[in-house]
Amino acid sequence: MNNTILMVGAGSYLPEKVLTNDDLSAFVDTDDAWIKQRTGIHQRHMVADGELTSDMAVAAANDALSAAGLTSDDIDIIIVATTTPDDTFPSTASTVQHKLGSYQAFAFDIQAVCAGFIYALGVGESLLRSGKGRRALIIGAESFTKILDWSDRTTCVLFGDGAGAVVLEVADTPAQDWGVLSTVLHTDGRYRDILYVDGGPSSSKTVGHVRMRGQDVFKHAVEKLSSSMNEVIADAGHTPTDIDWLIPHQANIRIIDGIQKKLGLPPEKVVKTVAQHANTSAASIPLALSAATRDGRVKSGHLLAFEAIGGGLSWGASLVRYGRP
Ligand code: UT7
Repeated sequence: MNNTILMVGAGSYLPEKVLTNDDLSAFVDTDDAWIKQRTGIHQRHMVADGELTSDMAVAAANDALSAAGLTSDDIDIIIVATTTPDDTFPSTASTVQHKLGSYQAFAFDIQAVCAGFIYALGVGESLLRSGKGRRALIIGAESFTKILDWSDRTTCVLFGDGAGAVVLEVADTPAQDWGVLSTVLHTDGRYRDILYVDGGPSSSKTVGHVRMRGQDVFKHAVEKLSSSMNEVIADAGHTPTDIDWLIPHQANIRIIDGIQKKLGLPPEKVVKTVAQHANTSAASIPLALSAATRDGRVKSGHLLAFEAIGGGLSWGASLVRYGRP
């Protein structure tokens, strides 16, 4: 590797409105006990009327820039991972660029659903490594509640809205074992039908709603996420015991606990926000990272492990030594 690509700041934004499981059970045939027991979710945040995915992305980006001690003028690349863009086009990233005033940056969206943050991280890292810029904003932002079928209790209780962001930076001098150490990305389109949205510009000219065969996704999640974690750990020359924090995609507490056990990590090394945030798709990892940097758990120099899986199926993992050396 010729460059070191550091992760120098994290930030997030959550909409003000909170919907608890009890709130949901007023209009969905479900109950708090079922949701908590099967998923670990207690509540989710919901965008306000008129609040857009790009608004949340900008708030998270500003928070990450301030954590990194940078301004929007310092950014050369903006990548927004989202499945719930403001519009079919232009990209939400171009709106974010305009709202940030980062006109020197090029900007585009990535669509890998719940794995979107890992994909955006991998692409951003590669662009920086190949000299396309000095700093990149990697944002995951979702208004996922906008694509839910509120009459389908098997999906509508699982998701929430929010945004998270990180800043990547090419180090002035290469630093061994710092920054993004390894990232793996995988897709298997044969499983398209176990998690998808039943609409789109080309198929139906509608936005569509989330459809999922939950048990099938569950089985793939535990197996594929633990194997891709093992891939990045081995590729970076580390062992699971080196990991300071596992910061997983927050879909279901049982999936998170299953992976923690498979990796042999102590439970206290796992950052869990699924209870408060529910599944925020591409936003879930940077939201969890931001929570853990803000409360002082994640510190500069810590070894972080990220993993996520979503529709596609698309999945991946990344190992990062956080902060500036
Ligand atoms: O981020 C993208 C990746 N997505 C995921 O990782 C999601 C993976 N899957 C899951 O997290 C779980 O499969 C679910 C949470 C979606 C479902 O949990 P489960 O333990 O697999 O439940 P199930 O689908 O087997 O359903 C068990 C029962 C069913 O009733 P019967 O047939 O046993 O009478 C469902 O109808 O629970 C019922 N059920 C509900 N009951 C109350 C399903 N949804 C609900 C609900 N409230 N919201």
